[in-house]
Amino acid sequence: PVLVVDFGAQYAQLIARRVREAQVYSEVVPHTASVAELLAKDPAAIVLSGGPSSVYEQDAPSVDPALFDAGVPVFGICYGFQAMARALGGTVEHTGNREYGRTDLEVAEPGVLHADLPGRHPVWMSHGDEVNKAPEGFTVTAASPRATVAAFENVERRLAGVQYHPEVAHSPHGQEVLRRFLHDIAGVRPQWTVASIVDDQVAAIREQVGDGRAICGLSGGVDSAVAAALVQRAIGDRLTCVFVDHGLLRSGERTQVERDFVAATGVNLVTVDARERFLAALAGVSDPEQKRKIIGREFIRVFEQAERDLKAEGDYRFLVQGTLYPDVVESGGGTGAANIKSHHNVGGLPDDLAFELVEPLRSLFKDEVRRVGVELGLPETIVHRQPFPGPGLGIRIIGEVTAERLDLLRAADAIAREELTAAGLDRDIWQCPVVLLADVRSVGVQGDGRTYGHPVVLRPVSSEDAMTADWTRLPYDVLERISTRITNEVDDVNRVVLDVTSKPPGTIEWE
Ligand code: XMP
Repeated sequence: PVLVVDFGAQYAQLIARRVREAQVYSEVVPHTASVAELLAKDPAAIVLSGGPSSVYEQDAPSVDPALFDAGVPVFGICYGFQAMARALGGTVEHTGNREYGRTDLEVAEPGVLHADLPGRHPVWMSHGDEVNKAPEGFTVTAASPRATVAAFENVERRLAGVQYHPEVAHSPHGQEVLRRFLHDIAGVRPQWTVASIVDDQVAAIREQVGDGRAICGLSGGVDSAVAAALVQRAIGDRLTCVFVDHGLLRSGERTQVERDFVAATGVNLVTVDARERFLAALAGVSDPEQKRKIIGREFIRVFEQAERDLKAEGDYRFLVQGTLYPDVVESGGGTGAANIKSHHNVGGLPDDLAFELVEPLRSLFKDEVRRVGVELGLPETIVHRQPFPGPGLGIRIIGEVTAERLDLLRAADAIAREELTAAGLDRDIWQCPVVLLADVRSVGVQGDGRTYGHPVVLRPVSSEDAMTADWTRLPYDVLERISTRITNEVDDVNRVVLDVTSKPPGTIEWE
């Protein structure tokens, strides 16, 4: 792999994704890893990421100069560039001149990294210190207003670096520069393709599962669907999928799983219809956290029962989970983030289950998972489904959850989704929860009569990762169509309102 050494900025995962976009497999490793530990992974190249520190701070993470004698190609970015310069005998000065944001790079000497790129082009910078002398044997190839040495390379030793952030979209030639380092300087061959991912994972699953049997919980979302499809490709009939219909799904979602997913994969599917059970457990409850806990608890109970039933039929020793690479990286980080909402992940099961886990997406980013889904022939509706919370519509009804209220919300939600899709906006928004304010009524007039119905809230958001979000400026004509249709077609809803709150301070879901 190419190892991306994380110096503690938020950029390491993004760099790892960009390396993969250059069709090279990458992994994120902490900067505390020793040179011996790095080399033990037999890296094709190493990228030193940016970080929040100054090389002058006490305890600032440094780079062991031994790394550069190992013959492994190294690329330094921002802080990694400075740490590299220092370790190799160049100098870094604490100027106090911060250069932050978009700036112009002046290419002095094209070299390999910047050959044939415009002599002056925009890049994204974020630094306080500055490399003012490159190490011996390195060619300085570019400068910027606040960095006399903004890029250097030593092609013979396969070492190079840039002060700017090539991984961000604000550096329009950044991906090309990264690609040149990987392919042209480091000599890594571009072999990480969707087809290779599928082949590797299928082989790995066969190896792990042998002639055993596996169970997979499906939620209707992309991760569990792609994980199941990969395992199905590897072990065929020895996989059984379990789909719990908790009655909190949106219109059409059960069909997508029962009909479309099964048609695309030929997977064995058991649907557990637990709608009554969830409604009974939720009766009389309107507190959000309590609802979440009840839904999580009931889900686990139903799923465990399904597992016991299957285990009675055959030797199911393996459980498939759609864990993604960012979860793996982040759970290694121990963030200690405050628990804002108790997230319930469908398939997020207790530790004491007697199963061995199969996690075929553990090394993949979300966009790669979607591409694998397409490669496996999964339907568009599943592969490009927007995020939908495990507790489903249960946390989009503000107030008690009842069968009638679920029907109302399902109808309103289906209209909003239809219109957003028809307007071609699905890929522009992150998601658009529709929320029923079930305990609120307001006066309206329809036909000749007074109405006294519920409002629904549209919550369209734009986001990169759901950690922060902005409300999406949907076109007025689309909002108008959604509003007109919902108030006309959904009995008992007489008002549609738009949520114009960013996150923070609002969260995406209302509960
Ligand atoms: P919030 O409301 O915390 O939501 O801003 C952030 C993202 O997470 C989704 N979400 C959940 N997903 N189980 C999930 O699998 C949950 O319990 C859950 N709660 C919120 C939400 O839809 C948004 O994408």
